[in-house]
Amino acid sequence: MSLALQAQISKASEMIKDANHIAAFTGAGISVESGIPPFRGEGGIWNKYPPELLEISHFLTDPLTTWKAIKEIFYTFEHTVKPNEAHIALAKLEARGFLKAIITQNIDNLHQEAGSKTIFEFHGNMKYVRCLDCQAEFEVMRILQDNSMIPPLCPTCETGLLKPDFIFFGEDIPKMAYRNTMDQAKIADLFIVVGTTGQVVPASYIPIIAKQNGCKIIEINPQPSSYTNTITDLFIQCKAGEALKQIAALILK
Ligand code: APR
Repeated sequence: MSLALQAQISKASEMIKDANHIAAFTGAGISVESGIPPFRGEGGIWNKYPPELLEISHFLTDPLTTWKAIKEIFYTFEHTVKPNEAHIALAKLEARGFLKAIITQNIDNLHQEAGSKTIFEFHGNMKYVRCLDCQAEFEVMRILQDNSMIPPLCPTCETGLLKPDFIFFGEDIPKMAYRNTMDQAKIADLFIVVGTTGQVVPASYIPIIAKQNGCKIIEINPQPSSYTNTITDLFIQCKAGEALKQIAALILK
């Protein structure tokens, strides 16, 4: 690790120790080292599939095409996906009282699996599917294993279309996640922004609102984002796993 990066890691750990209320804001980049591709940039999902696939209007008019793509994109991993050093470091910082909440744009459940407790999922979670008619909820892997029929219909009412419980483009943000997230953006005095291009609204407004409320911003990303030269106070140009592991080691030693 370069001396410059070591200095940034050390500065970040001082900012974290001095802060009163810290929230993390994470995007797809924090899960890249777990083997989950990002949406944009190198190896991005949207380089292979048109984002329109995840428009809610497209899903409702052509559930078959959308479900076929969803299965390929989100539910066919050759290996079991596990939390990486970055997820684990955030869980440790929360357990020791340095981190109050994680606001995530991710639907992969990896923050939960790393042991984090206070998580606000701005875009929902991919583990479950919900019936659009009777609202019954099921574990998606059970549904996809039990019947290979695509698009899957509800086992309870037998007619309703099942939809993954994550937010499609054009859908409302879950009310509780939105409210809790806005509360964090109002009270936090430090945001740790990890692995996001900051391009998708309204999620991308959250760090901006926090900044407007006087919050300091640490950003961890191997590439600059829309925040880097606008709201970021400390930009750590590094992969999330390495940076957060080193930061947590300095603070929790
Ligand atoms: N560590 C940290 N950041 C990384 C890493 C890594 N190892 N690898 C890539 N990144 C960064 C990229 O540089 C990029 O800035 O992660 C970011 C991934 O950007 P996106 O794919 O746009 O992910 P995100 O910002 O979370 O997308 C927001 O877009 O399609 C919607 O709903 C979807 O929640 C998603 C939203």
